[in-house]
Amino acid sequence: MSVSQSMPLGGDCPRVAVIGGGVIGLGIGWRLARAGCPVTVFDRDEAGHSASWAAGGMLAAGVEAEPGEEVLWNLASRSQHLWPDFRYALQADSGRDIGYRDEGTMVVALTRDDLEQLRFNYEFQRSLGIELEWLSSTEARRREPYLNTGTAAAYFCKGDHQVDNRQVVEALKKALAKAGGVLRERAEAAVELAGGRVAGVRIGDEVHKADVVVVAAGAWSRGVGGLPEEVRPPVRPVRGQLLYLRMNPAEPLVRHVIWAPKAYIIPRKDGRLLIGATTEERGFDTRPTAGGVFSLLEGCWRAFPGIEELVLEEIVVGFRPGSRDDAPILGPTSVEGLVMATGHHRNGILLLPVTVEAISRFILKGKVMPEIEAYRPDRFRKPAGGGP
Ligand code: GLY
Repeated sequence: MSVSQSMPLGGDCPRVAVIGGGVIGLGIGWRLARAGCPVTVFDRDEAGHSASWAAGGMLAAGVEAEPGEEVLWNLASRSQHLWPDFRYALQADSGRDIGYRDEGTMVVALTRDDLEQLRFNYEFQRSLGIELEWLSSTEARRREPYLNTGTAAAYFCKGDHQVDNRQVVEALKKALAKAGGVLRERAEAAVELAGGRVAGVRIGDEVHKADVVVVAAGAWSRGVGGLPEEVRPPVRPVRGQLLYLRMNPAEPLVRHVIWAPKAYIIPRKDGRLLIGATTEERGFDTRPTAGGVFSLLEGCWRAFPGIEELVLEEIVVGFRPGSRDDAPILGPTSVEGLVMATGHHRNGILLLPVTVEAISRFILKGKVMPEIEAYRPDRFRKPAGGGP
């Protein structure tokens, strides 16, 4: 194990530069600034306005658990348990609400085919110890009065909640500033090395000195300037389109987070209704498509025909940071002082508290938490002399 992986980096309170001002970068910056570190977060554009802005904000470790992802589920469920304390700390430090809602999440089946899938997911998720409640069609419609009358069945996960991701962004910016951290927007930072370790970041001609550089640039992480090839994270943009409709908050059409077979549907406190999301491999193309919008509206309409009456307020295009194995990339690299916090794919908001805890603990104490061992950046490295 190299020094960078076992010792506090740059003393108890190293100078930290974070590349990327999404929720992950802002969250790490906030936590470290709170601990007394001089921290600057750099964003190439407007902080928090990429994947963090386009997210759904679902804290859905339960209903998103899939066969083959049991290890990731452990991390997701740990993070879900950290969310309540994270929420209170963030609200206290920022003085802002973050739209946390704890009504639970409902998964619905609309056809007989969906019902088979629903039964399979229900049994699998229960086998992980997730508390679920099977609902008849009548019971599902009692809880969601505007759900399609033809609904076959549903199940309910009371532990899966939501936050308003955009309010989380605003709160993190505020909390970072209050803790003494600095946010520099429209500042594209590259890693600056000297003597084989990080020396800081470069923004044009300016060098900003730092003992530790955290790469938290989401889908842009692979392209961060100055990264040696062997530590460049294998992250690509996985495009998602989503929609915001407007409900009457006094008589909301939808009351819980709903997983319908072809869309997820998220009601916000202020009456916005989010419908998400497509999953596309189209690079960084920001243009929404008719097909994307159509499939989201159709997927939602099948569950809630009443959306026909709602105003379509916004079409959003975002880029999930997808890694080669779809799991996050967390922790130290072979370059001393260089730390990764990227590749969160579909789970950036859910994994925010555990990422902040793990990365800040490593930077402050030099310890890699067992929870993130499986996500170390070096897992993608080819073994020396290994094969063609
Ligand atoms: N976490 C939801 C999505 O990526 O669409």
